[in-house]
Amino acid sequence: MTRPLVIGNWKMNLDYVEAIHLTQQLGVILKNKPLEHVELVVVPPFVDLRSVTSVVESDRVDLEVGAQHASQHDTGAHTGEVSVPMLQRLNVHWVLVGHSERRAMYAMNDEVVAQTLRTVLRHGLQAVLCVGEELAVRESGEQVDFVTAQLHAALAGVEEKSRPLVTIAYEPVWAIGSGLTASTEQVRDMTEHIRTVAASLSLDTVRVLYGGSVNPENAASLMIEGGVDGFLVGGASLKAESFLTIGQVANDCYDVKR
Ligand code: 13P
Repeated sequence: MTRPLVIGNWKMNLDYVEAIHLTQQLGVILKNKPLEHVELVVVPPFVDLRSVTSVVESDRVDLEVGAQHASQHDTGAHTGEVSVPMLQRLNVHWVLVGHSERRAMYAMNDEVVAQTLRTVLRHGLQAVLCVGEELAVRESGEQVDFVTAQLHAALAGVEEKSRPLVTIAYEPVWAIGSGLTASTEQVRDMTEHIRTVAASLSLDTVRVLYGGSVNPENAASLMIEGGVDGFLVGGASLKAESFLTIGQVANDCYDVKR
């Protein structure tokens, strides 16, 4: 089993003072109870990044830091956007690409997702490609074709040297923030399918995460029966205890499965 990856997407929550506080809390708990096998990443809003990376560095917190989005462009007249080189200067090592909220609310189509992914990889950062179907697609039974198309659009032609930097997060839109977690069978079926499609695009060892109402109670079954390599956590990542409990579950599952 590959090393589990647990990512906390704070979305548009926590101002920089609150972000510092949460990062310090995470640091204290992790010092007392380190997660031996798990790679933990937090993904704060842009304006919190500098504060969070400063706490991570000064307190030596065993966390990496990611951004929720980045521009596909490196520089220029793109009001409101943030570039990958700017993130890199802040010691940000991860970028979420094509989160469903960006796709649905900020017109991020497959082409922009693919360009952004290329930009992130060209600069050597880790890219978390988010895919997943809306409820209507699931109800019409077309989720497999839908996700396949998203994967092809984003991943076709990724250079060999960049492939280890790609992680895929399956986040069914209907499960996000809804309390409606996908069943372990649904997660297993889609995870296996994603691995097959990724392998057909030469990404044989890609990590596949699940996101959508993950919490400390459902994490173990999603991981063991759902067959994922970790989680992209929204709401439950806003509290140190619930986020690190999910991390602990992933850690224990790794011990069990090894
Ligand atoms: P929730 O865990 O709040 O459902 O959010 C999932 C998500 O969108 C993470 O990116």
